[in-house]
Amino acid sequence: MADSTASSLSETATGQAHPLLEVRDLAKRFGGLKAVDHCSFQVERGTITGLIGPNGAGKTTMFNLITGFIKPDSGRILLDGQDIGHLRPDEIFMRGMCRTFQIPREHGTMSVLENLMLVPAGQTGELWWNALLRPGQVRSEEARHLHKAQEVLEYLQLTHVQHEYAANLSGGQKKLLEMGRTLMADPQLVLLDEPAAGVNRTLLQSIIKNIQTMARDRGITFLLIEHDMNMVMSLCNPVIVMSEGRKLAEGEPEAVRNNQAVLEAYLGGQYATAAG
Ligand SMILES: Nc1ncnc2c1ncn2[C@@H]1O[C@H](COP(=O)(O)OP(=O)(O)O)[C@@H](O)[C@H]1O
Ligand SMILES: [Mg+2]
Repeated sequence: MADSTASSLSETATGQAHPLLEVRDLAKRFGGLKAVDHCSFQVERGTITGLIGPNGAGKTTMFNLITGFIKPDSGRILLDGQDIGHLRPDEIFMRGMCRTFQIPREHGTMSVLENLMLVPAGQTGELWWNALLRPGQVRSEEARHLHKAQEVLEYLQLTHVQHEYAANLSGGQKKLLEMGRTLMADPQLVLLDEPAAGVNRTLLQSIIKNIQTMARDRGITFLLIEHDMNMVMSLCNPVIVMSEGRKLAEGEPEAVRNNQAVLEAYLGGQYATAAG
């Protein structure tokens, strides 16, 4: 894993002038509803950036736009200075951006290990002509893939359930598996949609620790949506606040927490209690 860290670090070093991710004046309507309403923000390399806001603020829609699952009506999305607004989700994934879903999307009838092995990391084995022309290379690629999956399992402390059907995991373990799937792809940017939701306290601590280590040791940048304010306050800096499709505030967690407009947006919304 040390090798892949070194290469992803040198790659990111080439684009120092740009923020890793930039969203410019992005807009998306669903019928008459402005889910994302001319929203702009940047995510700087190496940060764990929080994206918060009351229920219905447009956070998940923003993730769906950034990762190519839905197309914006207008505005731009730049990854490392390059426009990715026209790319498909798999193309965006191949550029090093991975996401987890608010509801984990594991393959329930496959084992935990198989779920990790499924993740395409630009592996040679995918190209059928490589299998014909270079079978040896494909085999060693597979072996490396397996080795990596085992490392990821160990890292996330899921080794003891590697042969379980993914469907049998607890909610928290499924979240860890989702995180593992992003790690298999050597991402530079990981988007997490409510990693703490439905997770017990012990597992939550391990998720927080994992995010911090991945950011520190592997140089991965995180953008995460979260309603658990303790998690946001202890993990994220900066914090971006969305409300009604727009960016309402941005800054250090303490400043954002005490921002009057932010307090009002939460109090006005139905999430007032859950966010407190
Ligand atoms: N596919 C969709 N079709 C219609 N409306 C949607 C769709 N996705 C989201 N919305 C609406 O867009 C708004 C923002 O939703 P969402 O991005 O899920 O908010 P958040 O994640 O901040 O809670 C909500 O009013 C939601 O009902
Ligand atoms: Mg959401």
